[in-house]
Amino acid sequence: MNDQISRLENEAREDLARADSAEKIESFRVAYLGKKGKLTELFKLLGTVPPEEKKAVGAELNRLKQWLEEAVEKGKGNAPRTDASREIFDETLPGIRPPQGSIHILQQTIQEISAIFHRMGFETVEGPEIETEFHNFTALNIPLDHPSRDAFDTFYTPQGQLLRSQTSTVQIRVMKDRKPPLRIIAPGRVYRPDTVDASHSFMFHQIEGLMVDSGATFSDLKGVLHLFLRELFGSQTKIRFRPHFFPFTEPSVEVDIQWGKGWLEILGAGSVDPNVFDEVGYDKAVTRGFAFGLGVERIAMLRHGINDIRHFYENDLRFLRQFA
Ligand code: DAH
Repeated sequence: MNDQISRLENEAREDLARADSAEKIESFRVAYLGKKGKLTELFKLLGTVPPEEKKAVGAELNRLKQWLEEAVEKGKGNAPRTDASREIFDETLPGIRPPQGSIHILQQTIQEISAIFHRMGFETVEGPEIETEFHNFTALNIPLDHPSRDAFDTFYTPQGQLLRSQTSTVQIRVMKDRKPPLRIIAPGRVYRPDTVDASHSFMFHQIEGLMVDSGATFSDLKGVLHLFLRELFGSQTKIRFRPHFFPFTEPSVEVDIQWGKGWLEILGAGSVDPNVFDEVGYDKAVTRGFAFGLGVERIAMLRHGINDIRHFYENDLRFLRQFA
């Protein structure tokens, strides 16, 4: 019986060391302390122990039970034993491999995209997620009555701030802080009160780009985006610039890539509107620049055949491990 107890104890220590999540701790508890648990089964054998040993064996069982309960309570491996003299360490057992994390697929995508722009001399800048109306709208030439300023399309705080709905805010922050020439990208989270479904989330990621330089023309924008999209999607990628409207660029385009038989919109871009230069205190008569913005989830979904945006946020290891 004493052998059985110490064998069970060793087994429990090994299982416990592997129980690295709340669920595993719970199944560990059930396996040992549950109604049909291994320790519970041993307790049932107490009746077969000769009367003169019963007391000692019972005490051992209770000691093990208490240790197991404490270990479960602490929710972590290798809770200290009360009786150190009984320690058994088998150094011939293989080591326990600690679980290793990996970079989330969205972060990998941001890193890959950023690396392409870094090679073209762009630098990464970050901005806050809680923003002012000035940075998110006004300075970007978005009029007060524009639908995106509505509470249905932007999260406002009771203090009159908002969760940025686009990374274009960072353009404004950088231009207010610095003088041209500028070549920056700004990755980060943005928020919109959309109903969550397979292609919408109340939070997602964008990467903004901005170049300001006296010679930064629309053809430079085309060159930069061509190079970028071919690096990302392959050198044979067909690219289409389609006229569009954004308040902060003039002219504006949406950029599509050929996908199967059709075209898919990949990003928005344009020459920075002179009104924006005015807002940040640049001389709009001589300053030139271009900007672009893209959605990270969309690009990751296309490249990896992911069919539901919610996969990115649910921390399901079966999904995440495919990109480890
Ligand atoms: N901010 C735009 C959006 O969220 C994306 C965008 C379009 C950014 C054009 C730009 C741009 O910098 O030039 O839909």
